This record gives sequence, C-alpha cells and structure tokens, in this order.
Amino acid sequence: MQETKVVTQTRKDTRRLPGSDGLIPVPGREDHFFLKAEVIRLLERVELLSERHPVNVLVVGPQGCGKSTLVRQFAARFNRPLAVFQVGILSEAGQLFGEHRLEEGRTYFNEFLFPKAVRTPRCVIHLEEINRPEHPKALNMLLSLLAEDRSVWIDEIGRVDVAPGVVFFATMNEGEEFVGTEMLDAALRDRFYIVALDYLPPEVETQVLRLKANLGEADALTVVNVANRLRTNRNDPVTVSTRHTLMIAEMVGLGASAKDAFVSGLQVGRDTLETVLLSVHLEGRLPGGEEKDEYHEY
Ligand SMILES: Nc1ncnc2c1ncn2[C@@H]1O[C@H](COP(=O)(O)OP(=O)(O)OP(=O)(O)O)[C@@H](O)[C@H]1O
Ligand SMILES: [Mg+2]
Repeated sequence: MQETKVVTQTRKDTRRLPGSDGLIPVPGREDHFFLKAEVIRLLERVELLSERHPVNVLVVGPQGCGKSTLVRQFAARFNRPLAVFQVGILSEAGQLFGEHRLEEGRTYFNEFLFPKAVRTPRCVIHLEEINRPEHPKALNMLLSLLAEDRSVWIDEIGRVDVAPGVVFFATMNEGEEFVGTEMLDAALRDRFYIVALDYLPPEVETQVLRLKANLGEADALTVVNVANRLRTNRNDPVTVSTRHTLMIAEMVGLGASAKDAFVSGLQVGRDTLETVLLSVHLEGRLPGGEEKDEYHEY
C-alpha cells in the first residue's frame, strides 16, 4: 500500500512572502500563447489606463481556454508582479486579509499576502473563480477595493488602499455546465471591463499543438479534428478544453495512437471514438471556418 506523507508546517513563517527577497515575483513568459488581435489591443489599453487609476478586468470563458494564462502573460509582458487568490474557497468576509491565531496563550493577527499585493504598485491581482465564493458575503470587502474609493478598512491592520497601477483580473468559468451556479452579481460585474475568451479556432489550435507539444502537422490535425467532433457531437457533446487537447497531443507525441490518447485523456468510450476517428479519416481536413478572426502570439 502506498504511504501518504503529511507535512505539517510548525514554524510561524506564514508571513514570509513569495520570492526570496520577500517581493511578489514577476512571472515568466509562456511561449506560443495565442489571443485574438482585439483582445491583445484591449490588454494594451488596460496597461495604459492603469497609469491613470487601478483597472478591473473580468475574463470569462469555458474551462481550460486560457484565462489564467492570459493573466500571467499580461503580468509577464508588462513586467508586473503577480499574486493569485482563490475566491472560490472563501467563506467569510475579510478572509483574504488575514486571520487570528493563537500562540502561547495569546492571539495575534496573521496578515496574509492579499493586503500586501493590494499595496504593491503595478501588482496584477488575479481573483480566481470570482463567481463561486462559498459564501456571498465573502465578496463584500473585495467590492470596496474594486469600487471607485479603492480602499477598505480592516480593524486589525487599518486602511488598505489600492496602490497606483494595480490591475485586478477576475476570472470565471462561463459555459453550459455552469448555468445554474451562482452567476456574478450585477453590482460586481458593473465594475469590470469584460474579456470573453473561447476555445481556439481549429487552424490556431493545430498550430498550438504543433508548437507546444512538438507534434507533426498530420497528428496535430487529427487531434484537433477529433476534439472538434466530440465538442460538436449532437447526441452527446463532450467538453474538450485546450488543456485537454494539449495533454492528448503530448501522449500522441510520445507514440500513443490518437484513440488511446483520447481514451486516457478524456475517458470517452472506445465506441464513440471509433466512430469519430472513422469520420475524421474519411474527411481528413479541418472544417472550413466561416468567420476569420485574427489571432497572434501574446
Ligand atoms: N489560446 C491558447 N494558446 C495556447 N495555449 C493555450 C491557449 N489556451 C489555453 N492554452 C493552454 O491550455 C492550458 C490551460 O490554460 P489555462 O490554465 O490558462 O486555462 P483556464 O481557462 O484558466 O482553465 P480553468 O478554467 O481550469 O481555470 C495551459 O497549458 C495553456 O497554456
Ligand atoms: Mg484558470
């Protein structure tokens, strides 16, 4: 039986911040990340606008379509520190700022990374899954930072003001499966510029698989074609994210057949795959896209 090792941190060093010098680090660039030209232009304007005042951007799109990567690339491109916070797990207002701790019979307030990030000039603050806090009240204090006054009072640490040049990016999954879960409050949505991302058109996705997973043109085409068939399968559509096609492409790159790679990557039944693969081989080309959006590496 496999043994699970649990590591508990006993030293009180939670106040230490990421980055060896205590500063919030600037992320590295990722190669071969593609965005629509209009999204790239919007992000350039966000950078300019942030010189005047902090800016909020909401990135909406289906699972694994590049939302988090977009935020990271923005930070990398403009040489900004990046701090990421999971809003989806918050259950109380104020939880992002810190917590009371007990040590040797005395309580103290342990300040978290969030207030430090908010006070760091030009920081990119990524709020993940902003539409899904466990408790709606968890967003209250966040709202004050996103609103015009850009400041919030926390009893334990005083006033927290948003530093110049800060950009808040919130991301949320919006797709068929998410209808019915708590959608973003109108008041919150009102405060953001909105970027809608979607899966890449087939020609661009093929290029991504070639560049990122080192696949040959023919294999990349097969993976994209099969993925698109599954996505648009009328009887039983399957969600296949770009993350998934990349995982599958890497398996194919290591010699797996397209069928095996899809079975292990997606848990799609072999029968469905047989049918899809057959129809792909019969046609063997990309479906002709009607609209041609321009995409560039970002
Ligand atoms: N447009 C794209 N160009 C190149 N690679 C992409 C693109 N979109 C996604 N990917 C790749 O797919 C993977 C998943 O992307 P990412 O984590 O940014 O998606 P996400 O939308 O944040 O997912 P989730 O919904 O799970 O939060 C990453 O490896 C990313 O580089
Ligand atoms: Mg993400």
